[in-house]
Amino acid sequence: MTLEEALNDTAQLVARTVDQLLPRPEDAEAKLLEAMRYAMTGGKRLRPFLALQSGRLFGVDEANMVRVAVAVECIHAYSLIHDDLPAMDNDTLRRGQPTTHVRFDEATAILAGDALQAMAFEILANPLTHSDPYVRCNLILALSKAAGCHGMVGGQMIDLECENMNPNIGMVTRLHQMKTGALIAFSCESGAIMGRASKEPTHALRAFAHDLGLAFQVVDDLLDVEGDPEIMGKSAGKDTESGKATFISILGLDRSREQAEYLSSQARTHLDLFDEKADLLRDVSKFVLTRHK
Ligand code: IPE
Ligand code: IPE
Ligand code: MG
Ligand code: MG
Ligand code: MG
Repeated sequence: MTLEEALNDTAQLVARTVDQLLPRPEDAEAKLLEAMRYAMTGGKRLRPFLALQSGRLFGVDEANMVRVAVAVECIHAYSLIHDDLPAMDNDTLRRGQPTTHVRFDEATAILAGDALQAMAFEILANPLTHSDPYVRCNLILALSKAAGCHGMVGGQMIDLECENMNPNIGMVTRLHQMKTGALIAFSCESGAIMGRASKEPTHALRAFAHDLGLAFQVVDDLLDVEGDPEIMGKSAGKDTESGKATFISILGLDRSREQAEYLSSQARTHLDLFDEKADLLRDVSKFVLTRHK
């Protein structure tokens, strides 16, 4: 199966599962539920894809793994809703559609983000995700760490603090690893948690994710400068306009691209202990470089 076919399959599976797991807008809180569904529509579904591929390496049943995949996508969607708010990046376009606060209103967008965050943990805590409470606790522990003050949210804080500052490359690397790398790392490791894998493959996946996540955000920064907003479905040029600290603002375009290429090939070397079951993960490490959105 090619990576493109596999990504399409994942997108369809995730869309079906999101439809099953998210409550239907019927009652007084209908607006909230509508906004949650709206924010959970579209996107590359990269994190769910990584989770499902990681589960495959350890023989985890897809019906269980897709719940973890949707949980991490809930956190990702919530992070995007809040990232786009006027108080943060103030963006009006996301995945080719008006951002959630534009389509609904700011209060609804904030609440939809909050509720998606809670929903992620509700999905993981449900015995349908895994019969063993110890595994469920480990999933919740890992995702809460990845999402919280030492992970995504902490990274978002540093991202804002670094606006119009001149941080060094070490600081920006840390910021990228926290705001983007942490959720990607959880996605890659989640199959190992679900499959109760031993230390060695778990560490290998963590190392893979470490390089992949950073490469992914460096390319996001590159796309902000070089990308086509029509294809990306979000605005370009915003990082420079807001004085964001990015790889490009420090290293320039060429060296940033070189760095992303280096990280992508380094990521692949960490998969050497896996057989051809990891081929789609190897493909993903190339895809993060060549992607246009
Ligand atoms: C965008 O993530 C935000 C970053 C962490 C760079 P994606 O590029 O994965 O966004 P979608 O989910 O495909 O829209
Ligand atoms: C967003 O980084 C990271 C998170 C949402 C946690 P960006 O602000 O660069 O993402 P885009 O470019 O808006 O998608
Ligand atoms: Mg941002
Ligand atoms: Mg943004
Ligand atoms: Mg960006």
